[in-house]
Amino acid sequence: MTVLLLGGSPSPQSSCSRLLQHIGDKLAVHGCRTARLEVRELPGPALLRMDANDPELARALAQVAAAEAVVVATPIYKAAYTGMLKLFLDLLPQDGLQGKAVLPLATGGSQSHLLALDYALRPVLASMSARFILPSIYATSEQLAWDSERGTRLAAPIAERVAQGVDQLVADLALRASIAGTAAAWQVAA
Ligand SMILES: Cc1cc2nc3c(=O)[nH]c(=O)nc-3n(C[C@H](O)[C@H](O)[C@H](O)COP(=O)(O)O)c2cc1C
Repeated sequence: MTVLLLGGSPSPQSSCSRLLQHIGDKLAVHGCRTARLEVRELPGPALLRMDANDPELARALAQVAAAEAVVVATPIYKAAYTGMLKLFLDLLPQDGLQGKAVLPLATGGSQSHLLALDYALRPVLASMSARFILPSIYATSEQLAWDSERGTRLAAPIAERVAQGVDQLVADLALRASIAGTAAAWQVAA
């Protein structure tokens, strides 16, 4: 089962991407296979034209289709998720998240837009038929520290939220795998 780590920050030194990677590392410790996709690394002109036949965009869309779960990470821009992330989500089919669990994640400059994921991104994910949208994780810049030696360090409340989110996602994927295994066994028996 693959979890896609989808990053929607235009910044190459993105704190949001670091938090996303941190969660990916935690998922890997639980035995999850992860794949990484940063929207900023996709070809901009093709993205603006919504050219789903562009080979790189087609590969990115296939990565989403192949994933059982998606962690969607965005910085908060103007009280919502980034336009870059929306460009990519608009390329996906209307039911492009069908059957998938989704963990929304954001970083912001302050607590002012703590609810932005819930009022702005969550309805979009629901409209794309996500099976299960986990509680959102929101961290301010002050709650995330990074240096090249120690890597990403999280303030205690965020570390706790991240641990809960990872545990919930892992439990959901395990349950799905067990249901799929039982269904396959019944088919063999029938
Ligand atoms: C264009 C722009 C708009 C922003 N708007 C908001 C905002 O409305 N609310 C907020 O809390 N932070 C806002 N910020 C701050 C970013 O959300 C914050 O610095 C975030 O951690 C950046 O993440 P990144 O390093 O992954 O790009 C804005 C930053 C930029 C560049």
